[in-house]
This record gives sequence, structure tokens and C-alpha cells, in this order.
Amino acid sequence: MDQLLLIRGGVPLRGRVRVNGSKNASLPIMAATLLTDESTVIEDVPNLLDVSSMIAVLKGLGASVDYRPGQGRLWVTPGSLQQASLPVELAGRMRASFLVLGPLLARRKKVRIPLPGGCAIGSRPVDLHLKGLSALGARFHIEKGLVEGASDGLQGARIYLDFPSVGATENIIMAAALARGTTILENAATEPEIVDLANCLNSMGAQIVGAGTSRIRIEGVPELGGTRHVVIPDRIEAGTLLLAGVITGGSVIVEHVIPDHLKALLAKLAEAGAKVEELGPSTIKASAGERIAAVDLKTMPYPGFPTDLQPQFMSLLALAEGTSVVVETVFENRFRHVEGLNSMGAQIKVEGRQAVIHGRPALTGAPVSATDLRGAAALLLAALAAQGETKLNEVHHLWRGHCGLEERLALLGARIELISEEPERALNMGSHSG
Ligand code: UD1
Repeated sequence: MDQLLLIRGGVPLRGRVRVNGSKNASLPIMAATLLTDESTVIEDVPNLLDVSSMIAVLKGLGASVDYRPGQGRLWVTPGSLQQASLPVELAGRMRASFLVLGPLLARRKKVRIPLPGGCAIGSRPVDLHLKGLSALGARFHIEKGLVEGASDGLQGARIYLDFPSVGATENIIMAAALARGTTILENAATEPEIVDLANCLNSMGAQIVGAGTSRIRIEGVPELGGTRHVVIPDRIEAGTLLLAGVITGGSVIVEHVIPDHLKALLAKLAEAGAKVEELGPSTIKASAGERIAAVDLKTMPYPGFPTDLQPQFMSLLALAEGTSVVVETVFENRFRHVEGLNSMGAQIKVEGRQAVIHGRPALTGAPVSATDLRGAAALLLAALAAQGETKLNEVHHLWRGHCGLEERLALLGARIELISEEPERALNMGSHSG
């Protein structure tokens, strides 16, 4: 049965909420467990569809996996990795499945994995992953959607990324950790999730320095061992919850956050007239001020404004006083939430990678459909602020990245209900990433 969310908007959200462990840190770290035959324990892994998909990928490769969602604890024991090929069905579920390529190449001479499926937010090629891994000595052959990789042992190299791709940086670091000699990765992504991955790898015995800067140096080691690692809090979920407080004219305190990871969002919230306070080393409060003022923003690789918060921030700008311009520089097609926002009364025009938002005093509830994870969050935020009732369809996109979100919003005062639909209306789940 497919599900939808019924939201009766217009209630200012107030209260405290704990942020879950990071999805985008958990997924590469789960892939990294394949770099050893020993057991790894990962803590604070959120109970999400994407995590289930990655568990299926690890199991598909022969690893033994035990996940206790209540405790957020995940054990992985890959053993000798008998399987170095992945079924298409598993790879198609999400783009992050491609992150097993680096670890597999580091441990096996031949690997075969499907190209990640099509995606709702742009073409998202994997050329940078393959170029980087080729520099380490891997050879690739792509045919009928399958990537066949081979190597006679990876060798450290100097690699320059044309764009600081998060996934390519992760795949290269993981492969280089077990390569012979030194790898220097220039123009690497600097996202906090890269730092978390490098910290986990270092605790497995890797020698990585510079993660979090654009130059990462990896001294290859002959083998890695198991470890225990706690993933960082999810900065995108934290941002979404803070925005939920501000957009509804309320005030939300998020706990279990790393404020430094949210600098760009907090600066934009303050610029728009919201009141932002750091209440402690891991607690932030955001409250609505008078009506939100229009602000311009441009998404950029970290530490710039995150593309994963652009749709949610756009919902806020739809209610701002004045005209805002949002430029999306990371993905080519990340405005699919605009149709839903406009059907709720927003006035947003998209031209290429730019959206012009004429702020309105109010939005009205409407039936809308989510098209991707962050777009779903944007429509949910707009619905919480809108007058009247919104039915948010295709809500499975939201479960890819948020766990128990509707319950936590309800605790903050939201009138929100999860409803199961007739089976004939259920649609297949897409293969998206975010
Ligand atoms: C990760 C995040 C995603 C986030 C994105 C950007 C995970 C699981 N997902 O995705 O939530 O939105 O970072 O912060 O961590 N590109 C290429 N060639 C490549 C690789 C990427 O052209 O080989 C392009 C992509 O098409 C895209 C841009 O680079 O336009 C950014 O992609 P990338 O940083 O790789 O994002 P992901 O790792 O897929």
C-alpha cells in the first residue's frame, strides 16, 4: 500500500527535537566496512529506506549484516567477499550503491557492478569516480549498463578532480586506503561526511590526512581491521527541522547537531530575518521574526549553501516579503518541487538553473506529489505553513532520508497524519539519491 501524508497547516511549531545520525555519512561508511574481513560496528545509523537498500547491497556481496534500528546499531562482517558483483536490482535502488566500487576494487581483482539508475535530479554521471579509480590502476569496461572493473593491485597516484564530487572523493579515498604507496587527491570534496568517512577509515588502520580540505593525502596500508564508529548528526535533517519552525512562524530547538556544519543555512536564515541562537555546543534554536525577507542564494559544494537544503529553503522564500533568486549550481535539474509549490499558491519561475521566487503572504493547501527526497521535504514544509489541508502523495521519497519525521513534527504541534492508500494507486519506488 502506498502512503500519503495529510497535513492541516497553519500551526506554529514549537519545541525540541533530536536529530538522527547522518544518512550521507552512514552510506559510505557502510561501504567502507567492505575494506576489511573483520567486523565493524556503526552507531547512530538512521532507520531509512536508503540504509535498508545499502544493507541489501552488502548482503548481496556476501557480507553478514545485523541492524538493530531501535538502537541505531549496525554490525557488518564481510568475511572474504566471495561475491564481487552486484545484481542490477540492488544497484538500481539508489546511487550510493556505487560507493562499493572502490572497496571492491581494493580487495578483488575483478568486480562487476551496474551503473546507478536514472535519477530525478539530473543525469549524475560517474565519470569522476571512474577517472580517479583508473588513475589508481583500475581498468574499466562499460557495457549494457554494467561496469566491469579489473586491476592487478592498486597503486597510489596524484589525482585532480575536475569537480569536488562527494561520491567520487569517497570512492577514491576508500580504494586508495589499500593501494600501494601514496595518493594525493586534489580538489577533493570537503563535506563533513567525507571527514566522518576518513575518521572511520583511520580508526580501521588507514592513514588519511587532510580530509575536510581540498587536498587529501592517503598513505596506502596492506590491510585494515574492524572498528566501532559513531556517525555524525544529519545536518540536512537538522536544517529541515529548523526551517519547519521558522516557516510556520514558530520556534524549534534541534539537539544533537554540529553547528559548524550548518553555517551556510544559519547565515541565510539570519539574513532572512529569523532569529538563530546556539544554545550549547550541540543545540540550535531558530525562531521566526516578523515576516521573512527575500534573500538570494546559490548552492555550492561545502562549505557553501547545500543543494540538499535548497528545496526546503525555497519553500520559506515562497512566503518571504519580496523577490528572491535561487541559483542551483550542483545539480542540473533540482527544481522539480516548484510545480507542487506553485500549486499551493507560490509564484516561482524557473529558467535553467535559476528560480525567481515572488514571495506571497500565504500559501494554501493542495494535493501535491513528491518527486524526490529533498523536494518531498520542501512540500511538507510548505504544507505545514499553508492554510488548509495538503495531501502529500508519493511520500515514500521522504522515507529515503527521514525516519519518523511525521511523529516528531506532531510532537512539535503539527497536525499531520500518515494515511495508507488503496493498493491500485500504489506506484513503484524510483531510484533516486539525495
Ligand atoms: C552526494 C549526496 C547528495 C548531495 C550531493 C551534493 C550522498 C549519498 N549523497 O551525492 O545528497 O546532494 O552529494 O552535495 O552522500 N558528477 C559528475 N561526475 C561524477 C560524479 C558527480 O559529473 O562522476 C556531478 C553530478 O552529476 C552532480 C555533481 O557532480 O551534478 C555533484 O555530485 P556529487 O558531489 O558526486 O554527489 P553525490 O555523491 O552523488
